[in-house]
Amino acid sequence: MLRCEQLTKTYVSGGRDLTVLKDITFHLEPGGFLAIIGPSGSGKTTLLGLLAGLDRPTAGKVLLDGTDLGALDEDARARLRRDRVGFVFQSFQLVPTLTALENVQVPLELAGNGRRSGGSEDSIEQRALALLGRVGLAERAHHYPAQLSGGEQQRVALARAFSNRPRILFADEPTGNLDARTGHVIVELMGELNRDLGTTLVLVTHDPDLASRAGRTIRLADGAIVSDTGAAPGGDA
Ligand SMILES: Nc1ncnc2c1ncn2[C@@H]1O[C@H](COP(=O)(O)OP(=O)(O)O)[C@@H](O)[C@H]1O
Ligand SMILES: [Mg+2]
Repeated sequence: MLRCEQLTKTYVSGGRDLTVLKDITFHLEPGGFLAIIGPSGSGKTTLLGLLAGLDRPTAGKVLLDGTDLGALDEDARARLRRDRVGFVFQSFQLVPTLTALENVQVPLELAGNGRRSGGSEDSIEQRALALLGRVGLAERAHHYPAQLSGGEQQRVALARAFSNRPRILFADEPTGNLDARTGHVIVELMGELNRDLGTTLVLVTHDPDLASRAGRTIRLADGAIVSDTGAAPGGDA
């Protein structure tokens, strides 16, 4: 499903090289739920960006469903993200001028399902409503982000991330701006969607309690894997 081999990322800033990821290798099976943990600055966000094809490694490669991301040009990578990948961010990143329902509909329309004929418009709206129902927000469909609490906004973001039925969902500290109780609700919801829809999940968090809900935990420190609960002998799980 997701394989990375000897990933290294070096930033050049102020004329100095800073290697923030070193030789990261692991393999995640379809339907898996992986948590990546580690202290601030250990390289979690950088790793997620490489795995999701948002950024390119300095060395090594990422294979998503067998596709080598490094072999794709920018457009092909963008298409692959649109069709197969979902994202959830710490800061929700909803479009403020769109309602909850419209936010969830956007990826469906971008995916080319947004034909202007009545039937398919209906099915997009129905699908978006069903997803909002799934995250417990059917009654908030016509609210704007500013009218929703943080936890509600993140639930809309989750519904949006799942709307294109991604093969894999990446979440970067999705509970970082939420209180503990709301954070747990979000992670529980992610676990449910992982179970019910078979979506592979990769969750970055610095909360070990949240990480414990995942089937597997990789811990980073200083840009290297220091432990992996799913590693088989030889580093491949
Ligand atoms: N664009 C960048 N240019 C230079 N250094 C960066 C850049 N992005 C991140 N870093 C550095 O890389 C290291 C890892 O950052 P990051 O992946 O954001 O860690 P984490 O998400 O675990 O907190 C940090 O030292 C950070 O300052
Ligand atoms: Mg980070």
